[in-house]
Amino acid sequence: MDHCPPLSRSIAGRVAIVTGAASGMGRATAMLFASEGASVAVTDLDQNACDAIVAEIAASGGTARAYALDVANHDAIKSVVADVAKDFGGIDIVVNNAGISAFCPLDAGDDYDGMWDRAVAILLTAHQRMVRAALPWLRKSDAARIVNIASTEALGATPGDTPYVAAKTGVTGLTRGMAVDLGKEGITVNCICPGPIRTGMTSNVPEDDKALYARRRTALRRYGRPEEVAHMTLSLVLPAAGFITGAVIPVDGGLMARNA
Ligand code: NAI
Repeated sequence: MDHCPPLSRSIAGRVAIVTGAASGMGRATAMLFASEGASVAVTDLDQNACDAIVAEIAASGGTARAYALDVANHDAIKSVVADVAKDFGGIDIVVNNAGISAFCPLDAGDDYDGMWDRAVAILLTAHQRMVRAALPWLRKSDAARIVNIASTEALGATPGDTPYVAAKTGVTGLTRGMAVDLGKEGITVNCICPGPIRTGMTSNVPEDDKALYARRRTALRRYGRPEEVAHMTLSLVLPAAGFITGAVIPVDGGLMARNA
């Protein structure tokens, strides 16, 4: 009879890098990881915004450092990832979360090309670049974990959203491909597909529209909270989650489960 050794449900002492961590789900993830004892690299476009999150984490007794990082900038990714590894002595966890909305009608001409390029750069290309930059340190971790944030737009499509849908669908494929390539090294790669979540990205959707959409489309009849996604991310990065890889997991209030 095989005995299962005790499996750790703690990320205390682990080093995590979170992109887009100054707002919404990234912020919630950084705060949750820090409250669980991880050392968190809070990265986002604006240094001051990252500093504010780090101050919040420090005020509640957690460990974090702020790094300005535009994930569309390949050189910046390489140098920030190296800085994080130097500052914290390694990297165990990468959460690719930074994102933009990218609605654009197909007949928008050159604007469409611009939006396509931006969507693919920020939502998809950045994910593989972050992972490739972090690999030397992930390979030294005994519980290396990668979580990519995609969207339910990777599982279905809202009209007028093709750049976002294509980039997010790419994230699910990238997740599977990386899971297969890195599996032999024990590195897990998983993908979360959030549904409608109350974050900066959806803050301009009027409350009435949010309520109507949630009632019509989700099983739970409500928008989700960023913390509800962060908790799934936490579950996937636990050392105990070592046999979950290549998974694409909706955290969507039942949006994808509902037909009518
Ligand atoms: P948010 O707008 O609250 O946070 C996104 C963060 O990403 C911001 O702090 C922003 O500054 C940062 N960011 C944008 N471009 C960046 C760049 N080039 N480099 C570095 N950071 C950059 O939005 P939210 O909702 O928390 O977004 C997190 C992820 O969740 C995104 O990938 C988004 O596409 C995805 N998502 C959001 C959903 C929602 O309903 N809010 C639903 C499904 C997926």
